[in-house]
Amino acid sequence: MTKPKLIVTRKWPASVEARLRETFDVTLNETDVPFDAAAFVSAFQNYDAVLPTVSDMIPADAYTAPNVRTKLLANFGVGYNHIDITAAHAAGMTVTNTPGVLTDCTADIAMGLLLSSARRIGEGEREVRSDNWTGWRPTHMIGAKVTGATLGIIGFGRIGQAMAHRAHHGFGMKVVFQNRSKVADDIAAQTNATQLDTVAEVMAASDFVSLHCPGGQAEPIVNAAALAAMKPSGHLINTARGDVVDETALTAALKEGRIAGAGLDVFEKEPSIPADLKALDNVVLAPHLGSATLETREAMGNMATDNAIAFFDGDTPPNLVQG
Ligand code: DGY
Repeated sequence: MTKPKLIVTRKWPASVEARLRETFDVTLNETDVPFDAAAFVSAFQNYDAVLPTVSDMIPADAYTAPNVRTKLLANFGVGYNHIDITAAHAAGMTVTNTPGVLTDCTADIAMGLLLSSARRIGEGEREVRSDNWTGWRPTHMIGAKVTGATLGIIGFGRIGQAMAHRAHHGFGMKVVFQNRSKVADDIAAQTNATQLDTVAEVMAASDFVSLHCPGGQAEPIVNAAALAAMKPSGHLINTARGDVVDETALTAALKEGRIAGAGLDVFEKEPSIPADLKALDNVVLAPHLGSATLETREAMGNMATDNAIAFFDGDTPPNLVQG
């Protein structure tokens, strides 16, 4: 029997690439060079499945190109705001993603950025590396205490809850959160967390705010007004998507000291980061590392592969994106 023809848009962990090779007629991306628009059109016309990932820039006309062959987009990643779900469905494509397996590692990075921003670890490292450290003194690089502080969470899904767990059980933090729907009392009780009605209420009540809501919304959830509601001593942590924050408004708030700091793993136009944001000392910047551990990346690849196997076996893939 002919094997389904798959193409993978970026390099994946070796063990998963080996599994794909055994299972499918697969074209891998050995060079790891991102696909351009023409490569996506060609992939959609020549392969039964395309296995894209979160940093891919899929052009709108790929979905409507003549003679599209692709029936499955098995995304490597939980976020799928880089895929036009409506256009994919209209083109007869099934879309899947990889939820659940990156929850812990993403919450770990969020906690790391929170600690780094609060305790000025990035700034301190720069001081040490540039030979500008003159030694211990009682007033040197004073930061904000994390233990016992209030953490506000925007988006109380899997990753938001994992962050609450770390903050509450690890650091004795009080947790408040905002979520689009009402969160069950027994879930909130696990971290003694209180659901508030609005983003503004969470911003105002918190010493640290961590974002765990989906990207791809019409407007950023954290806009100038939301930032204005934060305490001047507050820190904003974003491991969700760059477009959930108005980056220009955030840069201004940090520059003018209207908030104390930020820890960012995601950006509006990755991998480009505005020079005036990079110039600030009170922001910790990471290159979208949330899921970057071998265990997690293998789990993501295996989940995307499982989705493809189920699809080509004629079963419903376990991680269908409904749109
Ligand atoms: C995802 O899967 O959406 C993450 O951003 C990758 O780390």
